[in-house]
Amino acid sequence: MDKKLKKLEEKVKVELNNIKDDKVLSELKVKYLGRKGELTKILKEIKNLSLEEKPKLGKLANKIKKELINIFDNAEKILSSQKFNNLSFDASMPGQDKEVGSIHPISVIQYEIEDSFKQLGFKVYDGPQLESEYYNFTSLNIPKDHPARDTQDTFWLEDNNILRTHTSNLQVRMLEKEGVPFRGIFPGRVFRNESTDSSHDHTFYQLEGLMVAKDINIGNLIAVMKVLLSSVFKTNVDVRLRPGFFPFVEPGFEMDIKCLVCEGEGCSVCKKSGWVELMPCGMVHPKVLVAADIDYKKYSGFAFGLGLTRMVMMKYKIEDIRLLEAGDLRFLKQF
Ligand code: DAH
Repeated sequence: MDKKLKKLEEKVKVELNNIKDDKVLSELKVKYLGRKGELTKILKEIKNLSLEEKPKLGKLANKIKKELINIFDNAEKILSSQKFNNLSFDASMPGQDKEVGSIHPISVIQYEIEDSFKQLGFKVYDGPQLESEYYNFTSLNIPKDHPARDTQDTFWLEDNNILRTHTSNLQVRMLEKEGVPFRGIFPGRVFRNESTDSSHDHTFYQLEGLMVAKDINIGNLIAVMKVLLSSVFKTNVDVRLRPGFFPFVEPGFEMDIKCLVCEGEGCSVCKKSGWVELMPCGMVHPKVLVAADIDYKKYSGFAFGLGLTRMVMMKYKIEDIRLLEAGDLRFLKQF
C-alpha cells in the first residue's frame, strides 16, 4: 500500500510535466482525484487494513492527497499565467484613446424638435413598436377592410399583432392614459413592408404631434407647424398646404416643403417634382376622440405626422434613405 501511494505520486508528477492545455489538466485531475479516481480507490482500501497499519497509511494517504491537490493547483496557475504571457499585447500598457461615436443624424434632429416642443409645453412620449391592430388602425377610424389600410403595407405577426406602421398608434393610447387637455409628441421608429429604393425603406422614423384641448383650431395647428420647421431648418423654407385625406383627421392637409436637395429643380428625393411631402396634418376626427372617451363637443385638437427620416434627408441633403439604417461608419462619421 505504502509503495502504491508513492508510485502514484510519482506517476502524477511525470504526467503533469507534459501538460500544455487546461482541458487535459482537468481530465487528469479527475483521473486521480475524482470520485472514481485512482487515489480515491486506494483510500477506500485502507478500511480493509489491519488495526496497526490503518493509522500509519491513513496519515500517509492524506498527506499525499494534500500534496496532489497542491500540485494540481500549481499546475493550473502556471498554465493560466503562460496563457497570459503568450498574449500578443502588453496588458499592462495604458489604454489607447478610443474614438467616441457621434449622434446619429436622426437623433440630432429629433432632440432639436423635442427641445422646441418642450418650450411650447409639449411632453415627449414613447410607446410600443409592436402594436395591436386596434391602436394602429381601428381606434384611428381605419376599420377592417378600409382601403386606407392598403396604403400602409403592414408587417403582420402570427398572433395578429403588427409592427406599427406609424407613430399615430400612440394617439388614442396616450389620450387614454393622460386625459385632456393634452399636448404631446411621439418620436419613434415605424415599419412598412415595402421594397426598398432610394426613398423607401422598411424601417424609418416619424414624429407625431397631438394637442387636444378646448377651442383648438387650424390657426393653432399652423402656428405650431411654423415653430417646428424653423427649429429644424433655421432658415425660411417654402411650404405649401394641400387638402389631404387621412381617416383620423377632418379636415386633413398635406404640408409640402420645397425640396432642399435640388431647390425645386427635381431630383430622386422629391421624385422630380420639386416638392417633398413632409407633414400630413389636420384636426383630430371626432371618432378618434370618442375612441379615447373624450367629449368631442367640448374638446378639439390637431395632429401631425412628421416624416422625421425624410426631414433629416432634406436637412443634410442625403439622397439615399438606406444609408440611415446601414450602420456604415463612412456615412455616420460625417455627422
Ligand atoms: N400616420 C400617417 C402616416 O403615417 C401620417 C399622419 C397623417 C399623421 C395625418 C397625423 C395626421 O397625425 O394628422 O401615413
